Amino acid sequence: MASKHTAPSVFAMKASGQKVVCLTAYDFFSGLVAERAGVDLVLVGDSIGNVVFGEETTLGVELDDIVRATRSVKRAVKEPLLVADLPFGSYHLGPAQAVESSVALMKAGAEAVKLEGALLEEIEAVRRAGIPVMGHVGFTPQSVHAFGGFRVQGKSDPQAVIDAAIALDEIGVFSIVLELIPAELAKEISSKVTCPTIGIGAGVHCDGQIQVFHDVLGMAEKTHKHAKRYAQGLEIFQQAISNYSDEVRNSVFPTVENSF
Ligand code: KIV
Repeated sequence: MASKHTAPSVFAMKASGQKVVCLTAYDFFSGLVAERAGVDLVLVGDSIGNVVFGEETTLGVELDDIVRATRSVKRAVKEPLLVADLPFGSYHLGPAQAVESSVALMKAGAEAVKLEGALLEEIEAVRRAGIPVMGHVGFTPQSVHAFGGFRVQGKSDPQAVIDAAIALDEIGVFSIVLELIPAELAKEISSKVTCPTIGIGAGVHCDGQIQVFHDVLGMAEKTHKHAKRYAQGLEIFQQAISNYSDEVRNSVFPTVENSF
């Protein structure tokens, strides 16, 4: 049996040259799949707003949504490090709010939190409370309107992304998500920071990768350029439910075996 992943053990994977495999999860089922597949880190992401609630952005996600999802995922996830996302508005009022929201996520079973942007004072306060923090730079979805849409970042001002990542590394985050930035920029950042970089749409040179559960299982209607479908989930589930419907309509199901 593999051993339990912690924030320090994930941090140490970079030095030992091991890639960090990360996946999002939002409920007991997705947590169980991640646990059984043996990923290193599970993120209860605010992408719950997109793939579970069907919303365009993550802005509508509430802290209580992530708290509830974290409790469910926690029941299935034992060995991977369990990280919970701080949703939009749950840390933007300052360090005190960031600590309060992070404490709520830890009480729900998280073992670390993630927040977007180089909010150094907030991150330092959360770390002082004994909570490991995962950073997130590049395209940060909670700032989608400031970016003017879902756009690759770091093309016009790569130094700003490098500076943000280095600042996060220096204040002690245990890893940094690099989202939607050019692969060469991610390579440079990865060579400059001590903690593992976890890419999504940031190329192969990151120290690990994170993907959204529904994207890798083909459960979303569209496939993003940064994602790969490892199963045709939507088609498989649709076919199964359609078979079930046919059998009910034709009195094939339930059979004697399914009856009491
Ligand atoms: O919410 C999320 O799923 C994320 C990942 C894309 C990193 O933040």
